[in-house]
Amino acid sequence: MINQTHTKIVPIDLDTPDRTIINEAAALIQDGQLVAFPTETVYGLGADTFNQSAIQAIFSVKHRPSTDPLIVHIGSIQELSTVAIKIPEIALTLAHQFWPGPLTLILEKQSNIPHAVTAGGPSVAVRYPDHRIAQLLIATSGCPIAAPSANRFSRPSPTLAYHVFADLNGKIPMILDGGPTNIGLESTVLDVTHSCPCILRPGGISMEQIQSVIPDVQIRKQFFDVCHESQHSPGQLFKHYSPKAPLCLFTGHSIDDVTMAMYVHMEKLLNMNQSVGAMLVEEDLELFKPLAKDGGLIQNLGSVNKLDIVAKNLFACMRRLDSANVDCILIHMLPKNEIGLAIQDRLFRAAEKVIQVG
Ligand code: TXA
Ligand code: MG
Repeated sequence: MINQTHTKIVPIDLDTPDRTIINEAAALIQDGQLVAFPTETVYGLGADTFNQSAIQAIFSVKHRPSTDPLIVHIGSIQELSTVAIKIPEIALTLAHQFWPGPLTLILEKQSNIPHAVTAGGPSVAVRYPDHRIAQLLIATSGCPIAAPSANRFSRPSPTLAYHVFADLNGKIPMILDGGPTNIGLESTVLDVTHSCPCILRPGGISMEQIQSVIPDVQIRKQFFDVCHESQHSPGQLFKHYSPKAPLCLFTGHSIDDVTMAMYVHMEKLLNMNQSVGAMLVEEDLELFKPLAKDGGLIQNLGSVNKLDIVAKNLFACMRRLDSANVDCILIHMLPKNEIGLAIQDRLFRAAEKVIQVG
């Protein structure tokens, strides 16, 4: 049973961060409490990596299963050896190329990393975030900070301090509010414990960027299956990052056919007096105008030609439609180049239903 706590949201300036605020947050971490903080990807829910009870608290406030391991956040490449051992050359090459940044490396863990952090496994996930506030918090706390995304388990990751508040109010003492996060989707998780590195979760560093260092990098088979056997409704199996309203994902070879199928479906639901939300790319807005007039709630994700903006908006749009209490949310598949692969992964995981068109 977790006692109710007063949760304060403390705005912090990214250019000239107030050190007294950082000191207060770091003191909470050192005291075994949890602090939510911004990173360049999404907000994290941080605790002292070496404090067992603080780590347990992360799992309980998030309602996260203890079988799902956490990412350890460090403040420099040098710190890597304090949390991992037998670091392969390729890991250092990647670290020098992409850190600080949205790349999480899976490595063999140091024996002092608590079991709860790694879910009892032999490996540890490590990343050096590219965010001034995260870096200052790690340095001032004087310990690596274990942090999952600061959402309630299975909800969309928080890209605003307010999203954290909506999920965790009354459960944690402090949220550092650094404004909207820059990338909006989580880091790429790359397993480098085997001779053949494998992407376990696509994210902020694209597959193309990793291929520039490891041309034959693998991608987790499960992910590949999810994307290519969509008719099996993978959302059921991997449901995650999901809005409260069922998300219906339209996919297929012809983008025009897919968009039209989504339009017809939305029109039908509106005629049945359902409250329907649609997350659209800018290029679709004109077509869907009549449905907006008929009461459909439209969220503009940004241009299909600027997928980094779409990524940045995705989780916030899901949450906005949830706040409007829609009965369902519709979206169609987007290109999967660069950050698009991570968008595709999150959409398949969030989807309650995948509709294959054509
Ligand atoms: O961008 C991010 O990665 C954000 C910010 C806060 O850093 N964090 C984040 O953490 O997304 P979380 O806990 O929501 O996702 C961590 C992912 C999970 O899918 C987890 O299963 C995987 O990393 N992971 C952690 N440790 C692992 C390990 N030892 N082996 C394989 N996967 C691991
Ligand atoms: Mg998460």
